[in-house]
Amino acid sequence: MLRNTISLLSRLSRLSRLSRLRAARHAGVLALGTLAAAGAALAQNYSPELIEKGRYLATASDCIACHTASKAQPMAGGHAISSPVGEIVATNITPSKSHGIGNYSEQQFADALRKGVRADGARLYPAMPYTAFARFTNEDVHALYAYFMEGVAPVDAAPKASTALPFPMNVRASMIGWNLLFADGKPFEPDPAQTPEWNRGAYLAQGAGHCATCHTPRGALMQELASQSLSGAQIGAWWAPDITNSRTHGIGSWSVDDLTRYLATGHLPGKAQAAGPMAEAITHSFSRLHESDLRAISRYILSVSSHQPEDSAQRNRFGFGQATDATAGFRGTSFAEGMKQSGVALGAQVFTANCASCHGASGQGTQDGYYPALFGKSITGEANPSNLIAAILNGVDRETPQGGHVFMPPFGDQVNAMVPLKNEEVAAVSNFLLTSYGNPAVSVTADQVQVIREGGAKSGLILLARIGMALGAVVVLGLVMLATKRRRARLER
Ligand code: HEC
Ligand code: HEC
Ligand code: HEC
Repeated sequence: MLRNTISLLSRLSRLSRLSRLRAARHAGVLALGTLAAAGAALAQNYSPELIEKGRYLATASDCIACHTASKAQPMAGGHAISSPVGEIVATNITPSKSHGIGNYSEQQFADALRKGVRADGARLYPAMPYTAFARFTNEDVHALYAYFMEGVAPVDAAPKASTALPFPMNVRASMIGWNLLFADGKPFEPDPAQTPEWNRGAYLAQGAGHCATCHTPRGALMQELASQSLSGAQIGAWWAPDITNSRTHGIGSWSVDDLTRYLATGHLPGKAQAAGPMAEAITHSFSRLHESDLRAISRYILSVSSHQPEDSAQRNRFGFGQATDATAGFRGTSFAEGMKQSGVALGAQVFTANCASCHGASGQGTQDGYYPALFGKSITGEANPSNLIAAILNGVDRETPQGGHVFMPPFGDQVNAMVPLKNEEVAAVSNFLLTSYGNPAVSVTADQVQVIREGGAKSGLILLARIGMALGAVVVLGLVMLATKRRRARLER
C-alpha cells in the first residue's frame, strides 16, 4: 500500500514532467508559427521610462543574481540555488519564446512573481522569493513586465542544468499545501502612522530587497518564522546575522548613515564587511540603488525590533578584540613544532604565513581600511563562526559600481588556490583569530570546516517529508481498513 502510494505519486510527477515536455514542444511549433508576428512585435509597446523603471526594480530585486549563470547571458538561468533539500536551478527568464518567458502574459508573470505559479500552472519552489515579491504593487509588476519583455535580450537556449530534487520534493503539487500554510500573498500595506520614507523602505526591504529571505530563521518546513523576523539565519555555508535594532543581538549600535554606507559599499569601517551572498547582493543590487532608497531601507530596518530581550551584560559582536601582536609569542617556533603544540600555535603559523601580509602582523589591517582589521568586527565577534570559516575558504570578491574591486584570495580550493589550507589549518587560524582578536568563547573544529566546505549542514527535511508521506499513507491505509471492516460488518448483519 505504502509502496503503491509512493510509486503512484512519483508516476504522477513523471507524468506532469512529460506533459510539460509535450507542452514545451507544442510551444516550440507555435513559436515558429508566430515568428513573423514576433518580428512585427519588435516595435516597442512600452515607453523607455517604464522600461527603465522596471530595470531599476529588477536591480532592487536582484533577479540577475539567481537567474544568471554566465555573465554573457543575463537572466538566461542555470544558476543553482542550494537549499537544504537539494539544488534548485533558476530558469531562463529572458523574453525568448522558445526557452524563456516570452509567451507569458502580464497576468501569468504577476502570478509567477507574487504567487509562485508558473505559466503552465505548476508551482514554483520558494527558492524563488515569491513570498517576498507578493508585496509588489500592480504598478511595479507592470514596469517589471515591460522591462522583461522589451529591456532584456532573449536567449533561445535552455539552461545547462535543471532542478532534480529527490522524492517527495520533486512533486511540485506539494507546494500547494506549503503555500496555503505559509505564503500570505498579501500586497504591501503602507502604515499611515509612519513617514513616507519609512513606508518606502518597508516596501523595498520586505518586497524587492527580500532581506528576510536570508536574515529570518526558518521552521521545520522551511517557512520563515515571522515572530523572529530578521533575527539571523543559516543559509548554506553562510550565517546571515541578526539585523534587528537590538543593541545586544543586532545592529542597534548602527546609525542610518552606517547602514546606508554598508548597503552602498559592503564595508562599514570598524564594524563589518560583506562577503558571500551579501557581497553578491551588494554588488548586483543594493550598491546600484538611489541613496534615498538605501536611506529609506535603513530607516525601516533599524525600526525592526528583536524578539529577544536586551542584555547589557552581554557584549555585542562588534565589541570584541583589539590590535595585539598575538603572533609574537609563537615566533621562532617552527611549523612542525607548532603542529605538535596547541591548535592556536598552528593557527599563528598559518596566520603569519598566509594572512599577515595583508591584514598586518597585529591584525590591524591597513590605514585606508582596504585590508580590514580583524578585531571589533562582526565576523570575529559573532557567536556563529560560519562566516569566518566561509570567508577563509571562499575569499572575498566584491565589486562597486564605481569600478572598485575588493578581493581576498580563497584558501579552501584544494586545486586552484595558491595556498590551499587543510581543514585543520582553517580551524587553527580561525581559533587563533577568535582568541586573539575576537570572541574567545567561540571555537572551530576541523569537522565544522568540512561542513562549511560542503556548503552547510544538510537538513532532515527530506527524511521528515518521507516520514510525513509514510504517515499519510498509514492514515490512508487505516481509513481503507476501517471502511472495509464497516462494509464487512454491514454484510454480516
Ligand atoms: C533568490 C533567487 C531568485 C531571485 C532573487 C529571483 N528568482 Fe525567479 N526563480 C528562482 C528559481 C530558483 C526559479 C525556479 C523555481 C522552480 O523551478 O520551482 C525561479 C523562477 C522564476 C520564474 C518562472 C519561470 C519559468 O517559467 O520557469 C519567473 C517568471 C521568475 N523566476 C521571475 C523572477 C523575477 C522577475 C525576479 C526579480 C524580480 C526573480 N525571478 C528573482 C530564483 C530567484
Ligand atoms: C542572499 C542573502 C541575503 C540577502 C537577500 C540579504 N542579506 Fe544581509 N547578509 C547576508 C549574509 C550571508 C551576511 C553576512 C556577510 C558577511 O559577514 O560576510 C549579511 C550581512 C548583513 C549585514 C551585516 C551584519 C553584520 O553583523 O556584519 C547587514 C547590516 C545586512 N546583511 C543587511 C541586509 C539588508 C538590509 C538586506 C535587505 C535590503 C539584506 N541584508 C539582504 C545575506 C543576505
Ligand atoms: C591578498 C590580501 C589578503 C590576504 C592574503 C588575506 N586577506 Fe583576508 N581580506 C582581504 C580583503 C581585501 C578583505 C575584504 C575587505 C572588505 O570586504 O572590504 C578581507 C577580509 C577578511 C575577513 C573578513 C570577511 C568578512 O566577511 O567580514 C576575514 C575574517 C579575513 N579576511 C581573514 C583572513 C585570513 C584568516 C587570511 C589568511 C588565511 C586572510 N584573510 C588573507 C585581503 C586578504
